[in-house]
This record gives sequence, C-alpha cells and structure tokens, in this order.
Amino acid sequence: MQDAGNTAVAILGIGRMATGLAVDLALNGCSVDVIDIKPRETSERLVKADELQAEFVVSANKLGRDTAGLMAPVYCGADIPDKNYTYVFEALPEEIPVKQAAYAAMGETIANATALCSMTSTFTVEELTAGINLAADMVVTHFMNPPWLIPFLEVVTPDSMKTENVETLFGFLRQTGHMPIRCKSSPGFVISRLQVGLMNEAVRLMEEGVASPEDIDKAITHGWGYRFPVMGILEFIDAGGLDILHHGGQSVARALGRPDLNSPTLIGQKYAEGAYGTKTLRGLFDYGDGTALAKREVIRLDQQVRLKSLLDQFQAEEDARTEAGS
Ligand SMILES: NC(=O)c1ccc[n+]([C@@H]2O[C@H](COP(=O)([O-])OP(=O)(O)OC[C@H]3O[C@@H](n4cnc5c(N)ncnc54)[C@H](O)[C@@H]3O)[C@@H](O)[C@H]2O)c1
Repeated sequence: MQDAGNTAVAILGIGRMATGLAVDLALNGCSVDVIDIKPRETSERLVKADELQAEFVVSANKLGRDTAGLMAPVYCGADIPDKNYTYVFEALPEEIPVKQAAYAAMGETIANATALCSMTSTFTVEELTAGINLAADMVVTHFMNPPWLIPFLEVVTPDSMKTENVETLFGFLRQTGHMPIRCKSSPGFVISRLQVGLMNEAVRLMEEGVASPEDIDKAITHGWGYRFPVMGILEFIDAGGLDILHHGGQSVARALGRPDLNSPTLIGQKYAEGAYGTKTLRGLFDYGDGTALAKREVIRLDQQVRLKSLLDQFQAEEDARTEAGS
C-alpha cells in the first residue's frame, strides 16, 4: 500500500470529484478534511457525511483494500478547521466566481498551505487567479473521475512556484498512486482538449446520422478500446503512418467542407521530410535503428491479446445480461 505519510489535506466541495479524491487520498494514508462551504440544511449535511463514509467503504472493498489503520475522510460541513494543511484541493463548480469566493472564504487556511490545487477541467492558472491576491501557489491538478481508480492527472504549476515545492507535490501525487504529467497553462490542458475534439465529433456523427448512437459508442468500446490501453495516440499515428494521416486528413476535410479537419502543420512538415512513422523509423518519435521498436511491438501485441480476452469476457457477460433481461 502507498503511504502518503499522513499528509494533511483539505478538500473544498462534496460533489463527485471532491468525494472521489477524499476517498482516494484517505485510502493512501492521508488525513483528509472535506470542507463543504455551501449553505445547507443540517439534514442534507448528515446525508452528505453518510454518503462520503459509504463511498470510502465501497471503494476500499472494490479495490480489495483493508481500511484498518486508515483515517476515513472527515466531513466538516461549512466549518473550516483551525489546522495547517499541506495541500488544499478545490473541487467546486466550473465557475470562476464560485471558486474565487471559496478561496476568499478559506483565508488563512490557504495562506498556510504549500499549494492551492484546483481540480478545474478547463481554466488556466491565470483565469483562476485573475483579479485576486492568493497567498499560496495556485496549481491545477486535473484528476480524472474517479480519482481512486484512474491514476493519470495533469498538473499545471505557476512559474513562480519553488522547484522544491513542485517536486514535493509531484512526489506526493506519485506516492498516492497517481501518474502526474506536467502541462503548460493552456485552455483545456491535454485531456479536456482531446475530449472536446472527440466528444464534439461523436455528436456531429450522431447529428448527421452517419451511424446509430449505439454503434458510434461501439467504435470506442469495441474499436479503440482494444488498442488505446496499450498505445498512445501519437504512437498510433506513427504506427499507422503520417502519410496516411496527411492524405486522409486532406481528403476528409475537403469532402466534408471542414478545413478544421486538415492535419496540423507538423504532419505536413514530417511528410515533406519523408518521416512517415515506424515504417521509416522516424515520425513523431525517432526509433533509432528500430531494435527497441521491434521489441515494443512484440510486447504490445501480447498485451493486446491479453486485453482482448478480458474485453471479450466483458462482452460475453453483457450478452448474457441482455439475454436474461429479454
Ligand atoms: N465530473 C468530472 O468528471 C470531472 C473530472 C475532472 C475534473 N472536474 C472538475 O472538478 C470540479 C468539480 O466538479 P464535480 O463534477 O465534482 O462537480 P459537482 O457538481 O459534483 O460538485 C460541486 C460541488 O460544489 C458545491 N457547490 C455548488 N455551488 C457552490 C457554491 N456556490 N459554493 C460552494 N460550493 C458549491 C456542490 O454542492 C458540490 O458539492 C470542476 O471544476 C470540474 O470541472 C470534474
């Protein structure tokens, strides 16, 4: 089990992400206080507190984790404990005024923390701090839902943050079982920007009736699902061939009258250089003499076969459920 050394953290909010992160960090040995500054009836607060404890137990059971010796997350309601927290995480609605009002309400608690970490999906550090003075470094920690299950997160740190504090934060995130990547303060970061493109294109396909909604979803679950757990999208471009993307992007863009579907400049440049991907040993990545690539391809095929047997098993279970229900 990971041990985050009883790091004290506060989490602002009691919605999906706040609850998921509270459970995640508590399961990794942190002392977690959940501060819910939204005005609520006492009865509603009691329900929220119960739901938090229930999610802690259910998630631990699902992960096969023993909660003995761990501190369950503490629901504090609107009370802000007089404590020093290493990190204050904010998981409030995606609205700047709501987030900034909460930062102001937290006062000294934020000033004493090493960093104030927003779970925002889209706002840059500059947008989160526009027009306010913060006494702590404002960091974006964009986790995925639920954080106790998905390791990846993207992190944006301000240029002014001390290197040792950045390193400590990344160490803490890794210790709690996460895989943080560093990202520029750019709208939508990596994940949300990729998702915006994919989600909007999926809805366009639906709008245009290119396939049924169920079948569009199958393209993800039964197409991409068999590939992307073991391969990144940029690796996939190299494997498929940049030349294919270059020509394919142009023809789809032209046929649909959608210049936005043309490939970016980098693809045109690589195409002009003859760097087509794995087949030329140069593309978006450089494959040297190809030795490591050959090994990687053997391992990846093996991983995909193992993945296929798991996904086929899910499909058989799904088919059995459908048959039983019909
Ligand atoms: N849902 C996701 O999959 C996901 C994934 C990654 C990041 N995020 C980001 O995490 C943040 C929280 O998202 P969520 O999905 O947990 O939202 P949510 O709606 O589930 O939770 C928001 C919380 O804020 C509280 N709240 C609402 N108005 C408030 C106010 N005026 N003052 C104080 N508290 C208030 C709500 O009661 C709730 O506890 C957002 O910035 C979102 O973009 C969400």
